[in-house]
Amino acid sequence: MTIIDIINKKRLNKELTREEIEFAVNGYVNNKIKDYQMSSLLMAIVLNGMNERETIDLTDIMLKSGDIIDLSKIDGIVVDKHSTGGVGDKVTLVLAPLLASLGIKIAKMSGRGLGHTGGTIDKLESIKGFNTKITEDKFIDQVNNINIALVSQTGNLVPADKKIYALRDVTGTVESIPLIASSIMSKKLASGADIIMIDVKVGNGALMKNIDDARKLASLMVKIGKSYRKPTICLITNMEEPLGFAIGNSLEVIEAINTLKGNGPSDLLEVVMTLCSIIIGAVNKIPNNDAKNLLFKQLNNGEAYKKFEELVTNQGGDINKIRVSNKVFSIKSDKSGYINKIDALKLGEIAKNLGAGRNTIDDKIDYEVGLVLNKKVGDYVEKDEELIKVYIKEKDVNISEILSCYKIDNELEAIPKLILDVIK
Ligand code: URA
Repeated sequence: MTIIDIINKKRLNKELTREEIEFAVNGYVNNKIKDYQMSSLLMAIVLNGMNERETIDLTDIMLKSGDIIDLSKIDGIVVDKHSTGGVGDKVTLVLAPLLASLGIKIAKMSGRGLGHTGGTIDKLESIKGFNTKITEDKFIDQVNNINIALVSQTGNLVPADKKIYALRDVTGTVESIPLIASSIMSKKLASGADIIMIDVKVGNGALMKNIDDARKLASLMVKIGKSYRKPTICLITNMEEPLGFAIGNSLEVIEAINTLKGNGPSDLLEVVMTLCSIIIGAVNKIPNNDAKNLLFKQLNNGEAYKKFEELVTNQGGDINKIRVSNKVFSIKSDKSGYINKIDALKLGEIAKNLGAGRNTIDDKIDYEVGLVLNKKVGDYVEKDEELIKVYIKEKDVNISEILSCYKIDNELEAIPKLILDVIK
């Protein structure tokens, strides 16, 4: 068997055997297969796809390439929640303490932001002192003691995905349903939770640009989960405009805290409440409406925020030390009308280029910069009224670039639905 035979086979749109996939993945992890050979195979997969059997085998091979976390020492059902990535997506920061405040165990390993999407770990690290790199023993103890721990992936969790994902990111091979499904599910399965909840984002700011692809990805991940007897539920949610108002690390943490105190933006709240009530239904078998009432109670009585404070303190952070830049630039609308579109992808790119994200894995993030929208899709804006605030440091603001993210018309178009489907 040679890697060239395997590349040629996929180039000709033929099904790869488990042994061939194993040869390619393990050979790449062991540095026997070169970057240029792996990227050629990945591109053949992007173009010709993989069937379900190939994708399940790829997931299994990647999953077994490193450590598999054993969470059996945690008492109770452990939940992991993941997002396929969006702009302004601070859902985990609200959902995790909210569920933990109701006694549900959240043991979550999160990633950093890459491309135009943010990552939970970067957001948490914008809180001074917050330590996302705790030992596995402390991780387990903390979940047993306070029901929640949010940490970064350990060094040897799915090393095959780490290496392959970094290559995909720079070779135009991210956007492939079997590659995304196996990448996400190998990490979720290796992280050891009992229930996997995935928020599949769809729209211009997401990896999946249309609902059909989002449904395909969700169904595939649910099938992979089932093949390991791990209940996996996918919620498909709209990512045409940023979620909530804030984009950028500290700004998003502040918005999450306000949401935990009962003052959150309605779209963020809708996604959080829908995901939480599905999880509560799966763990405690409580009907949807009862779950929602419980959740609102925790937001309004301060318990959800108290749990977030407890999480921050336990991981060494100082909740009073979340800084945002004091150099703030207000951008006003150049016309009056209804806001029919806000380009999430472009605003995500702008925030990244201000310093809120990375262009390469080694770039340093500036936690204090970002954007705060003053208007959302469906709102009316007057000429010269503020559309958005830009929190900057050294970089200049390109006003026309930001204005070009908004579609403002005389007539209001239909407002897209936020929650699009549940697949389980
Ligand atoms: N997130 C992942 O973890 N992997 C992908 O391939 C895409 C998004």
